[in-house]
Amino acid sequence: MSFNLNSGDSIPLIGFGTWQLQGTELIRNTLDFALAAGYRLIDTAAIYRNEEDIGKALKELLPKYNLTRKDIFITTKLSPLEDNADNAYSALEQSLKRLDCEYVDLYLIHHPGVLGKKNTVEFNSKLRDGKWQQLVKAKKNGLTKNIGVSNYNVRHLEELLKNDHGVKPSVNQVQWHPKSHPDELLNLCKQSGVLLQAWGSLGGTGHGDLLLDDPEVKKISEKLGKTPAQVLLKWALQQNLGIIPKASSKNHIEDNMNLDFSIPEEDMNTLNNMKQTSDIWERLSVI
Ligand SMILES: NC(=O)c1ccc[n+]([C@@H]2O[C@H](COP(=O)([O-])OP(=O)(O)OC[C@H]3O[C@@H](n4cnc5c(N)ncnc54)[C@H](OP(=O)(O)O)[C@@H]3O)[C@@H](O)[C@H]2O)c1
Repeated sequence: MSFNLNSGDSIPLIGFGTWQLQGTELIRNTLDFALAAGYRLIDTAAIYRNEEDIGKALKELLPKYNLTRKDIFITTKLSPLEDNADNAYSALEQSLKRLDCEYVDLYLIHHPGVLGKKNTVEFNSKLRDGKWQQLVKAKKNGLTKNIGVSNYNVRHLEELLKNDHGVKPSVNQVQWHPKSHPDELLNLCKQSGVLLQAWGSLGGTGHGDLLLDDPEVKKISEKLGKTPAQVLLKWALQQNLGIIPKASSKNHIEDNMNLDFSIPEEDMNTLNNMKQTSDIWERLSVI
C-alpha cells in the first residue's frame, strides 16, 4: 500500500520505526526480519543514534533480498536539539554520511521548537522558517527527494503552508492513535495534500500497554480475531494514514505488517470516540 505525495513521489503507507533500536547486531537482525516481512520504509532520525548501523545493515541486507537503494524509502530527521537554522543543511549531509547514502527519500524537521529549551513562540517561528529554507535548498540539490515536518500542530502547519518558500511539506509525522487524534489537524493535512504519518500507534515505546491493554481495544481485537496491535495499526491505515510501528521481535514485526482485514464502521466509531488523554498537543501549543 502506498500514497502519492504532493511531490509526485510514492511513499509506502507502512514503515518500520527504529526509535530505541540501537546496536549493530540488533539493528541488523530487526531490519533482516523487517525486509523479509515486506517493509520497504525505514524511519530513523539523527537523535536515534542508529543511522550508521542502519546504513551498514542495508548494505549487507539489500542484496540478500534482491533489492537496491531505490526500492527502499528512508526517512531521517533534523535533530530536535538544533537551535541554529543555518546548520540544517549540513546536518542532513552528516546524516547521509552516517547512512552511507547519496540521498534520503524524506527529511523532516523533527520538532517545531528546540527540545528542552523554552524559547518564545516568535523565536521558534523564525527558527522553523529558517530550517525550512535550508530543507528547500537540500531538496533542490538532491540530498533528499522530499521534505516534511514532524510534531507540527495546526498553527505550525498553517504558518508553513502560508510561507513554504516554493515547496509544500509532503508529510507531517505526529503522535496519532485513538487517544491522541486532533481531527482539525487531519482535516488540514487532507485539504493541503500533506500525508499524516502516525507515530506511537501502539501507545509508544516504553508505555505501549496503555493502549494495547485497553479493554475497548481488546474487545474489538477479540471480536475480529486480530491482535490489539493489529487493530490499532489498521485503525490508522484504514483512514489512509501512514504508520511506522517499532518492534524488536520477529513475531511483532510480522504481526504489524499483516493488516489485510477491515474494521467495521461501528468499531471504527468506538475507537474514534475514545477519550483523548495525550497531553502532547497542549505541550506543542506553547511552542
Ligand atoms: N517524530 C517523532 O517525534 C517520533 C516520536 C516517537 C516515535 N517516532 C517514530 O515512530 C516509531 C513508532 O513509535 P514508537 O516507537 O514510539 O512506538 P509504537 O510503535 O507505538 O510502539 C512500540 C512498542 O510496542 C511494542 N510492540 C510492537 N509491536 C507489537 C505487537 N505486535 N504486539 C505487542 N507489542 C508490540 C514494541 O515492543 P517490542 O520492541 O518489544 O516489539 C514497543 O515497545 C518510532 O520507532 C520512531 O521511528 C517518531
